[in-house]
Amino acid sequence: PAIHRADYQAPAWWIDTVDLTFDLDPAKTRVLNKMRLRRNPDVAAQPLRLDGEALNLARVMVNGGGTSFKMDGNQLVLENLPEGAEPFDLEIFTTCAPAKNTQLMGLYVSQGTFFTQCEAEGFRRITYFLDRPDVMASYAVTLRADKAQYPVLLSNGNLVDSGALEDGRHFAKWVDPHKKPCYLFALVAGKLVAREQKIKSRSGNDHLLQVYVRPGDLGKTEHAMNALMHSVTWDEARFGLPLDLERFMIVATSDFNMGAMENKGLNIFNTKYVLASEATATDTDFANIESVVGHEYFHNWTGNRVTCRDWFQLSLKEGLTVFRDQEFSQDLAGSPSARAVKRIEDVRVLRTAQFPEDAGPMAHPVRPDSYIEINNFYTVTIYEKGAEVVRMQHNLVSREGFAKGMKLYFERHDGQAVTCDDFVQAIADANPLSPLAQHLPQFKRWYSQAGTPRVRATGHYDAATRSYALTLSQSCAPTPGQSEKQPFVIPVELGLIDASTGAALPLQLANEAGAVTTSRVVVLTEASQTLTFTNLDAEPVPSVLRGFSAPVVLDIEYTDAQLLTLLAHDADAFNRWEAGQRLALRTAIHAIADSEQQTGAHGRFDRNILSPEFVEAMRSVLRNPALDAAFKELVLTLPSETYIAEQLDVVDPQRIHAVREAMREQLALSLQPDWAWAWEQHQDTGGYRPDPVSSGRRALSGLALHMLCIAAQRAGDGVWPGKAYQRFKVAANMTDRFNALTALVASGSELAAPALARFHTLFKDEPLVIDKWFALQAGAPDRAGNVLPTVRQLLQHPDFSLKNPNRARSVIFSYCSANPGAFHRADAAGYVFWSDRVIELDALNPQVAARLARALDRWKKLAEPWRSGAREAIARVAARPDLSNDVREVVTRALAD
Ligand code: ARG
Ligand code: ZN
Repeated sequence: PAIHRADYQAPAWWIDTVDLTFDLDPAKTRVLNKMRLRRNPDVAAQPLRLDGEALNLARVMVNGGGTSFKMDGNQLVLENLPEGAEPFDLEIFTTCAPAKNTQLMGLYVSQGTFFTQCEAEGFRRITYFLDRPDVMASYAVTLRADKAQYPVLLSNGNLVDSGALEDGRHFAKWVDPHKKPCYLFALVAGKLVAREQKIKSRSGNDHLLQVYVRPGDLGKTEHAMNALMHSVTWDEARFGLPLDLERFMIVATSDFNMGAMENKGLNIFNTKYVLASEATATDTDFANIESVVGHEYFHNWTGNRVTCRDWFQLSLKEGLTVFRDQEFSQDLAGSPSARAVKRIEDVRVLRTAQFPEDAGPMAHPVRPDSYIEINNFYTVTIYEKGAEVVRMQHNLVSREGFAKGMKLYFERHDGQAVTCDDFVQAIADANPLSPLAQHLPQFKRWYSQAGTPRVRATGHYDAATRSYALTLSQSCAPTPGQSEKQPFVIPVELGLIDASTGAALPLQLANEAGAVTTSRVVVLTEASQTLTFTNLDAEPVPSVLRGFSAPVVLDIEYTDAQLLTLLAHDADAFNRWEAGQRLALRTAIHAIADSEQQTGAHGRFDRNILSPEFVEAMRSVLRNPALDAAFKELVLTLPSETYIAEQLDVVDPQRIHAVREAMREQLALSLQPDWAWAWEQHQDTGGYRPDPVSSGRRALSGLALHMLCIAAQRAGDGVWPGKAYQRFKVAANMTDRFNALTALVASGSELAAPALARFHTLFKDEPLVIDKWFALQAGAPDRAGNVLPTVRQLLQHPDFSLKNPNRARSVIFSYCSANPGAFHRADAAGYVFWSDRVIELDALNPQVAARLARALDRWKKLAEPWRSGAREAIARVAARPDLSNDVREVVTRALAD
């Protein structure tokens, strides 16, 4: 039963106030829901249909008396409600069973503590309600529970009353001063402790910030609290958006389907995005915590103060909030180089996860037209591509223009539930002369058309006129349900480089007077446009799509020499990195297609794959004193197997894996002295700090150690593995320790097994570290098919639990989604394993199962025998009669033609 955006209708009823009383009990929680409702005068009179799921209904009363009602599927239908515009009281009493809630949607219990997750449609698992984001109400919430077991009772807003009850129970009453849609409701009850911080905002208001965790975890909350304080300051400074609450709470739980949730004033987080200490968390964990804390905090305005009219508009809040958290991290990173590193990391996610989604069976526009299960649409398209669409608007109207647009957006829509159109309209209206305003209807195609556009750039130099003509043409392949695409508005930032000196050239357009710059944005609106640059003494090297100015694939035929020039000299750090990736990618693609490249007796390629020029270029980057370590690490990391696979029409995952491994081995061997130098030169000095500079140093020395272990393994030399083991033992922080462990495991050293055993012993009481321990083994390189048996054993490990999403992800997703060389077995055993786990998980937690189901999205690209094996495995899942809507939607789309 698909839901269509075009069918949207305003609600026939409004709910003005909600008064909820919970008697919390894991086996049977009682929920008394007293609402004040009225008819929406703008909509034709009709029965009230309330959503409910997995509830036991005990009583329904209208204005204090009995009423007739009926059930229609999951909906509670009331037909005989008071006529007229007057508000009336509706009281509904239900019970639910939080301890049995393995879906982790609605009210559930995690390690003896109650939590809720209501977005998107979890509130209906708590009480009967109009569970849609455009119904906004004022909430008062009374929580009652056993005081010894649940000393802390939290909900949205302000604590207005609390006290003791009979039989060792107690209560707390919370009132939220802001109206909100029910997906932002939250409650928490359990044994928790909080780190607290009082702050004064710019406007002079006092606020209390709290981070709640289980008692042993208080020491790991400092970084999250700092990130929260930075978030408050940043949103006020950059966008003039203050904290609108006296109290802002974050609570961590180890059982959570996603990363975190922005419930008004009471954010609930996966522990993975809260808890950090230098001993247990890596630099990546620290960075992720900062960005997720920022993300949820920024939702307070973009999402909560202005929310979505319906779930098709999800990117209104998610794309915008991802853009804001990316900007936050960049602004905190500080230096231009650290900003570029963050940009490259974000683009890498987009290209390795979103581009495949946009080219696969689940492709959908940033604003989808239909869905079966909304939980399946919390995707990289809605989030990351949505953020790119906001970023293009930002760039088309300038940073100041965007701030003006945001101001207008809040002036117009504060307190409302609105659409993506409303957002773009506000940004354009605040900047009437901008290219965004000039091309607004066409720009909006980014919201309606799925698929990744391709831009082809071709240059022609004319010596007679000393001019260079650059032609940009765009196209976009069909996606499910959209066979024809109209041209997009594509901002292309570009520059020209002197091929002999590498210097930036002035961009002088023919027929254009005015200031001449070395970088500019060209707005491509036609299917094809040509720009003619003049005053050029020789053919320049074009640097196109600088900073990844639009989420497109750029097709451009560079010579190797041109790419080497860009890698060495481009003023744009993103395109410098990109030039290195293009060189590596084309080498990989040639080797994959080259039948002369065959593995010899040792299972290795007989001939070198990388050219001496490429190796030399990598050496210069590694040794370049002007470049930051973090940037070097990105340049020296080859494109991922997933990214390489996306460039090919027919995918042999084993061949891709073998070629990439051979390239890595060659880099490891030919740069040995340079890697050793990089390792020595980037050791930590002083205490641990997760800032961009020192984490960049750790990233580069970690890569160097990894490469040295690969080279040593090849040469049968034990020195570097010995050093890695020593580093693993004495490392003062998790980043260095885990990098050393990874180097041992990934290079196949015999020291890997004792190191893994020691690691488990050291961290057996740290669940987030044990997740890493599982993930590393499930993600290890395959040696003679050993990973699948290891993964099966890990499922039997006493620490494994399928019910805990983090743990399930650490083993199953690390194998099925992040280890292509081990997963894509010619005997299809990986796929059979996948189908068993999807089915098993679906009975517990459909949301997590549906994510796993997407691991085979791109099966149609696979060569035989993988293709048939994958199809059979998907068909095996699809044949189950009892699948959730979540998994059903994914496998049905995967099998459709
Ligand atoms: N709004 C949350 C965030 O982006 C994600 C919640 C997703 N929940 C879900 N059940 N799909 O921060
Ligand atoms: Zn979000």
